[in-house]
Amino acid sequence: MHSTGKILGIIIVTQNTWEKEKNRFANQMATEEHKRLADIVKGTHALLRVECQQYGAEMAWKRHLARNDVLQEYAASMRKLAVKCWTNNNSNLRNGTYCRIEWIKTQCKEYFLYGGRKKYDRREQDINYKITLSSVKSSNDNRMCGSNSSCVENGLQNFHEQKITVLDVGSCYNPLNVDSAFDVTAIDLTPAVEGVYRCDFLNVTIERERTLSRDTREIRRLPANFFDTVVFSLLLEYLPCPEQRYVCCRNAYDVLKSGGILIIVSPDSKHVGANAKLMKSWRYALSGMGFMRIKYEKLRHIHCLVFRKCVCKDVAIRWSKLQHFSEANKIYMSDTKIFIPQDFQIFYSKEKQEKIEYEEIDLASSFSELPFNDEAPT
Ligand SMILES: C[S@@+](CC[C@H](N)C(=O)[O-])C[C@H]1O[C@@H](n2cnc3c(N)ncnc32)[C@H](O)[C@@H]1O
Repeated sequence: MHSTGKILGIIIVTQNTWEKEKNRFANQMATEEHKRLADIVKGTHALLRVECQQYGAEMAWKRHLARNDVLQEYAASMRKLAVKCWTNNNSNLRNGTYCRIEWIKTQCKEYFLYGGRKKYDRREQDINYKITLSSVKSSNDNRMCGSNSSCVENGLQNFHEQKITVLDVGSCYNPLNVDSAFDVTAIDLTPAVEGVYRCDFLNVTIERERTLSRDTREIRRLPANFFDTVVFSLLLEYLPCPEQRYVCCRNAYDVLKSGGILIIVSPDSKHVGANAKLMKSWRYALSGMGFMRIKYEKLRHIHCLVFRKCVCKDVAIRWSKLQHFSEANKIYMSDTKIFIPQDFQIFYSKEKQEKIEYEEIDLASSFSELPFNDEAPT
């Protein structure tokens, strides 16, 4: 009996050790796979940025789109990372990048279903009233004021009865299409799953109606003033130059209804103040376009922003007109560019070697914001 117990004990200890070893091995394999996928994503971004320096943005973009195999590999890797490596991090919602999808869904619902829209309709109306008053004071010509007031009132809406129409740009694997509150149109350069349309948002035509390609897999034209929400989740950093990012924001403006929202999620692992100037510069550029920033939150790895397409453009523009910038900060403020930290680091690099070093540091840091590097898959 005694020796049987001893043997049983040994078997249990051996089994436990074996389980531990098995788990350790599985974790190591998962981490290696995680790193391999992240390297593919980082490598694609690096190539695009280097070529943008070499050939200019337009040519680099053309070359990029022609590399079908690279794009396919990117799409498959990105999907695997998000679906396999990140979704298990739900336990750490505030920190894991998976939380961005939850954040987006929550903002949409708060805005359209739980009173957000109404609140900002009122705010816009109040600001518009002030603009109207001051323009009446400074001029007797109040024709413009009259049209301002009615444009806000016409845009007022009480309740959102239909599904929230969402355009998910750079959707890749259609992560938003899981909620019955949304009617999602998902687009990407290279869809990773069925149901995502092929479409280059940078060069898409925006007209009255949506037009599909013959095989119905590609969107050729997007409808103007149509969507309640446009989502840019980790999209802007993909684009190598500030003008291209601006064009994407302008296209978002065009496809949104008045009072609709643009939601931007952008990676940044630094503390909230580190890139505050750039966040202000986005607000400045988008305000000039007709967007009012209505929400900003910094989570551990991401900036999360919501911009409202104002019913009355003057209300949005007013904010940018009230801003004064020091000489040092003026370089960040532009009416036609959306900057990210990488733009300035490249701008200041003189030697090619420095640029290459920068690319490596930059990409390593910007993609540590996605939990590629510092969150072990479970
Ligand atoms: C980093 S992934 C983000 C995927 C997903 N939105 C997420 O949050 O996990 C960026 C995606 O944007 C897509 N993309 C980049 N530029 C685009 C453009 N001009 N039009 C459409 N999609 C674009 C890329 O193909 C890629 O799938």
